[in-house]
Parts: sequence; C-alpha cells; structure tokens
Amino acid sequence: MNSRELFHATFAGEKNLPVPFWIMRQAGRYLPEYRELKSKYSFVDIVKTPELSLEAALQPMRRFDFDCSILFSDILVVSEALGLPYGFKDEGGIYLEKRIESEKNIEALDAESVVEKLDYVFKSLKMLRKELPQKAIIGFCASPFTLAAYMIEGESSKTFPRFSKFMKSESKLFFALLEKLSRALSLYAKQQLYCGIDAFQIFDSHGSMSPTEKYGEYSAQWISPIISELNASARTILFANNMSERFAEMAPLGADAYALDDSVKLSEIFTTYQGHYVLQGNLKNTLLATATPQEVAKSTREIIDDMKPYGRHIFNLSHGITPDAKLENVYALCEEIKK
Ligand code: CP3
Repeated sequence: MNSRELFHATFAGEKNLPVPFWIMRQAGRYLPEYRELKSKYSFVDIVKTPELSLEAALQPMRRFDFDCSILFSDILVVSEALGLPYGFKDEGGIYLEKRIESEKNIEALDAESVVEKLDYVFKSLKMLRKELPQKAIIGFCASPFTLAAYMIEGESSKTFPRFSKFMKSESKLFFALLEKLSRALSLYAKQQLYCGIDAFQIFDSHGSMSPTEKYGEYSAQWISPIISELNASARTILFANNMSERFAEMAPLGADAYALDDSVKLSEIFTTYQGHYVLQGNLKNTLLATATPQEVAKSTREIIDDMKPYGRHIFNLSHGITPDAKLENVYALCEEIKK
C-alpha cells in the first residue's frame, strides 16, 4: 500500500495499518535547503513562483519521505488577492498593508475574483500532484474567522486587540466580513479540489478567540460552506489551535479529521466524542527543538500506541515545527513511526 492509499484507508477506518504522518510547516526554516532557497528569494517570491513553491514543498519529502505533502503557500495569499497585501516585519511576524475598519472596506472586497488572482497557487498544486502521484496531497486555507483576525488586526499579534474590539462592538460588520470570506474561501477550496488534492486542511489558528460556547456561531458556521464544497471529493481536516478542550464545540462541524494540540490525550477525545472522524496530532512541537532524539522517539511511540486500538490516526505535531527544531529529532520521529 503506498502513502496515498494508506492515507485514504485510515479515513475509511481500516485498522492495524502503519500510521500515516506529516508535520505542519514541514517546509520551513529548520531545513538547511529551505534557508538556502530563502537566501536567494523572498518568501513572497517563492510563494508566487510555482516552480519555487513546488521546490519548497518537495524539500521535506526528499529528506523525510512523509506520507503527505502540503502545498507551499500561506493563508495570507487570500487577503492579498482581496486587496490587502502582506509583508514581513523586521522584528518577526507579518503585517498587512491595509486593514479592515469600515463597511466600505468590506464592500470593496471582491470574493469572486480570488480564483483568477490566485492562479499561481493552482499551478503549484497541479505540479505537486503530478510530481507525487503516490503521496497524499494536502491543500489548505484559513478559516474565515482566522483570516478576519489578520485582516482586521493588520499584523501578527499575541492578543489581537483591534480584532477583539471589532468583534464585540461592530458585530454586524464582523459577520458581514465573515460571510464574504466564507464565499471567497469556498471558491478557493473548490479550485484546489480541481487540482487533484486528497485532503484540505482548514487552519483556524485563532478560533479560540471566539467567545466560550460560541465557536459554532463565530467560526464553525462560516467554515461549513467550505467543507460542503469539498464534500465527498477530498477529506477535510480542521486545525483549531488551543481548541482541543472545546472539542464538543467543534465536533458538530463534521470535518473528516480534527488536528489537535498537545493539551489533550487523543484516545480520550476519541472515546468521549464518538464518531467517524480521524484525529491528527499531537506531539508537542517544541520538543523537536528542546528534547533529545531518544525523548522524541519515546513521546512519538506513546502517541501512536495510545491511538493504536482505534486506527483513525494521522500523526502530526501540536502546531507547526519551529525554525530551531533539530534535524536529528525529525529523523528520530520518522524512524520511530516507520518501526
Ligand atoms: O505546512 C507547510 O509546510 C505549508 C506552508 C504553510 C506556511 N504557512 C508557510 C510559511 C502553511 C500551511 C502556513 C499557514 C499559516 N500562515 C498559518 C496557520 C498555521 C499556524 O501556524 O497557525 C498562519 C497563522 C499563517 C500566517 C503567517 N505566515 C505568519 C504569522 C507568518 C510569520 C511567522 C514568522 O515566522 O515570523 C507566516 C510566514 C510563513 N508561512 C513562513 C512559512 C514557511 C515563514 C516565512 C519564512 O520562510 O521566513
């Protein structure tokens, strides 16, 4: 069984198979070959040039032979296509050249134009599909809520103060923005489907800023049309960082898989909320920078053994791999999984 077949068999609920695996941000600065690419081209150039974006996506596959390959791009290409270009701050993090502040700003967003403007993404994805016929190919976008967080805040932030205020005091405008983003992202997702993806991951990285018990109203209902668009033709994975303990609020969305962080034990979620979903995760991402290869292998084994009785597990990290992760630790992780 090749990686792609293994990936689909896992979703079909087959047991006693190897655990398919990949890692979030697998193409990134922890790889010397990625740093080399970045010494010649900017991140935005790599993302916008299909051949370079393909190269970045392939780098971790050559080294580690993961079962899944994710498109090399960013969630912010969609805000750029909507007229809010992004860039990098000298001190780290990102900024947008414009922010959403008013009804006029929201009316000016042309959801229908994103597919045409993001042609470079689809070109890269089609090339990746062709290059790796035996691997599972993953497309992605942000959730409307998470994209709105960046478009209103205008920059990376720990607390998103402008966004939090806007969400509370301008709730009508806030929901009008979510509706528009939901439309744009549905079109974007559908076009990725035509490129031959096996799965589509929705990054709701900031979904935990939704009010308690209101994840459904604030985030999930706007993700729902995106999932419907992909329904039956690609597997859907929801990654909502820091939301694992609010799993009950995410479960009604009906994604095929939920990517969880390391605040929970996967088997406990799986047995508490019974359903037909797959769980993806959840090795603490920072371990790859701070632990020894032996410790990484041990923690990897514990997670695999924990989910073994149930099948329906894709191994991944709690969040993206960090630039200071050690290669020897990634090798230790891969070796343990393939044992
Ligand atoms: O997983 C992969 O390998 C695919 C590529 C991918 C990137 N960004 C490449 C990237 C994916 C899936 C993303 C998603 C993304 N982008 C998210 C959701 C995931 C998460 O981490 O919660 C978010 C919030 C963003 C927005 C974003 N992009 C930020 C805040 C930053 C800056 C972070 C920093 O390092 O300062 C980025 C840049 C970015 N996106 C990088 C990469 C490899 C680092 C850029 C570089 O090479 O310097």
